[in-house]
Amino acid sequence: MTPAVPSAGTVPLYGPDFAADPHGVYARLRQYGPVAPVEISPGVPAHLVTDYRAALDLLRDPGTWSKDPRVWQETLPPDCPVLPMMQWRPNALFNDGEAHTRYRRVISDSFARIEPHLLRERVIGAADSLIRLFAERGSVDLVTEYTRPLPLLLFNALFGLPDAYGARLVSALSKMMEARSPEEATEGGGEFYGYVSELVALKLEQRGDDLTSWFLDHPEGQSPEEVLQQVFLTLGAGNEPTANLISNALSRMLSDQRYYHTLTGGALTARDAIEDVLRSEPPLANYSAHFPRHDVRFHGTWIKANELVMVSYSAANTGPDGLPPGPRTDGGAHLAWAAGPHACPVKNPALLIAVTAVERLTSFLSDLELTVPREELAWRPGPFHRALTGLPARFSPITPDQAGATPWNSSPSSSTPQAPTSPVRPLSSAR
Ligand code: HEM
Repeated sequence: MTPAVPSAGTVPLYGPDFAADPHGVYARLRQYGPVAPVEISPGVPAHLVTDYRAALDLLRDPGTWSKDPRVWQETLPPDCPVLPMMQWRPNALFNDGEAHTRYRRVISDSFARIEPHLLRERVIGAADSLIRLFAERGSVDLVTEYTRPLPLLLFNALFGLPDAYGARLVSALSKMMEARSPEEATEGGGEFYGYVSELVALKLEQRGDDLTSWFLDHPEGQSPEEVLQQVFLTLGAGNEPTANLISNALSRMLSDQRYYHTLTGGALTARDAIEDVLRSEPPLANYSAHFPRHDVRFHGTWIKANELVMVSYSAANTGPDGLPPGPRTDGGAHLAWAAGPHACPVKNPALLIAVTAVERLTSFLSDLELTVPREELAWRPGPFHRALTGLPARFSPITPDQAGATPWNSSPSSSTPQAPTSPVRPLSSAR
């Protein structure tokens, strides 16, 4: 289909057409120049930056662009479906300047206390506990049974709760994500709030070696309410993109000969598949909501103060001024983690989690293959995430009593939090 300049109005980023072919839509949007008019939900317009240079100019200029949505969100009805992703909260994402620095420091310092080898062990523990549930079956939906629950089990442990709570977190967030009715979404939201509130209350009574306790005791001195908001943000910001990064990488590895051979000693690695996804199919495809502090002419478009402007990392990476296509191993500067003061503060741990999750799965199930061609996989509609609805696969079953390493006999530890003696960096060295 030849892209045509849309005659009037805006291009929707919701609904099945965008989910089926986002790059076709980005090609249409480029006809407008570096900034295009889109709708992120019916009746909710936004300016979308699709050009790499323009994206960097925006992300690196906090003097012109604010992250505070409070004036803009007043224009939306209270039940607008994008509000959960966009509305102001007292956390790092929606604040500028000193407030932002303070909130962000708590998150960055606390993650810096987790030793990479311990994080890896925890990922392996969570991965093995999930693989054990389907390994004897010979078939699996990798999204619902592996990539989506894995970060939740892991975060449950990192925030300091026993594995039993992990199931609660998985159930609450699944209800929110898969909600078949507004009531189910509300129920899931309530369960998620209950989980985080209980977590903070427990840690207020008794600290441990975990992220929640480190948030509470951080020298920046956050109130329990602020800690609650930071835990919400970290779980929300961390879980969904990490799950999708793992799913999208697996879908590539299992459908591309170059990666397929890797499973049995080929040229490209899990890390290559992940870098490839970060460039061409970033799990957070469009976000970085910003609002100009005053009317501004930006790369040829007039934008009024407090109008919503978003960055398409996916379009910017893949446009004519973006990055060359295909897997690269040189760590070139794609925008999947954004850039500037609000760039993802947990990039390295997130990469370690994704690489370990892919490697662990494929090391036990080395003949894993998709049961439907990649082109026929379905993607969840929505303007923000590039997310598969499912990833059905099959493999030769493995059993607990078979010879060699299995997920039953080779986990370094469970995903349950370690005893308080586990080695962590003291806060003073984490800056
Ligand atoms: C361990 C998992 C992760 C955690 C805990 C995490 C946490 C966060 C936090 C707290 C922020 C807000 C930072 C700020 O405003 O200063 C953020 C921003 C961001 N993260 Fe991550 N993240 C994780 C994984 C990922 C992954 C896998 C991706 C995608 C590849 C990603 C992409 C981004 C992007 C693009 C932003 C900027 C969003 C914006 O400014 O609107 N993150 N992340």
